[in-house]
Amino acid sequence: MRIRKAVIPAAGMGVRFLPATKAQPKEMIPIIDTPAIQFIVQEALDSGVEDILIITGRGKRAIEDHFDRSPELEEFLRAKGKTEQLELVGRIGRLADVHYIRQKEALGLGHAVLCARKFVGGEPFAVLLGDDLVRSKKPCLEQLIDLYAELPGTVLAVAEVPPEDVSKYGILDAEPVREGVYRVKDLVEKPPRDKAPSRLAVIGRYVISPSIFSILAETPPGAGGEIQLTDALRVLCREEPVYGLIFEGRRYDTGDKLGYLQATVEFALERPDLGADFRAYLKQLLKALA
Ligand code: UTP
Repeated sequence: MRIRKAVIPAAGMGVRFLPATKAQPKEMIPIIDTPAIQFIVQEALDSGVEDILIITGRGKRAIEDHFDRSPELEEFLRAKGKTEQLELVGRIGRLADVHYIRQKEALGLGHAVLCARKFVGGEPFAVLLGDDLVRSKKPCLEQLIDLYAELPGTVLAVAEVPPEDVSKYGILDAEPVREGVYRVKDLVEKPPRDKAPSRLAVIGRYVISPSIFSILAETPPGAGGEIQLTDALRVLCREEPVYGLIFEGRRYDTGDKLGYLQATVEFALERPDLGADFRAYLKQLLKALA
């Protein structure tokens, strides 16, 4: 079955990015000049997804405005002869059919995914989290969808992390299927280093079987009093095949301040309009710091 629908949960409070997130959605914080969520929507579209549902909450109106047309701004830019910017703004408004649903209370990522139940119906679907940006030749989600076409089931994007970082992630207890592909037996949420069954960490890209919804509906609140997607995936992997795929690409945790800075610097270095000047500036700075 084709993966036609993607869900982007964006109703979290963004506590790690206060005070920036006091009055604006975390997902709208830009990497240079592009809101993080625009990269995520683009990755879904580049992976062949047709319909996108963003789970929003209170204070997230800016996300809806961003993907909407903006007639006043477009008229202003047209009148000023700013054709390049006019094209840029118009293109975002035409990017995709984006749908929205509000999660009335931030009851956790699992609860946010459950809010997509009606939209998704009975087909497998993608989930993309805005905190993880991936720079890769083939979009990270497309890599998962390709594996799904070969091994139907649920597919989780995983990255091998250093031992000191396993306690920050959901970690796979899994058996190798072949190089880079694992069959998941269980998941352990944020284990201490000496209790981790592997160094394979789940990052924010998933292809999920619709069976997850009935499991989520029965999942009690877990860590932090929130309904956890990991808890439901643990049940799912006992009932249906769940795979982990080590994806190709560089991943940035933009929900973390250092990860955000790394993404900003590395994206700037790659930009045709900024890269050369920024590189020269960094070299100068490094010399001065040495
Ligand atoms: P996080 O656990 O990173 O939470 O959520 P957060 O609120 O976004 O950020 P911090 O940790 O407080 O700084 C992971 C993903 O799940 C979404 C978030 O928007 C994020 O994309 N989420 C989380 C929801 O949509 N609803 C929730 O109730 C919780």
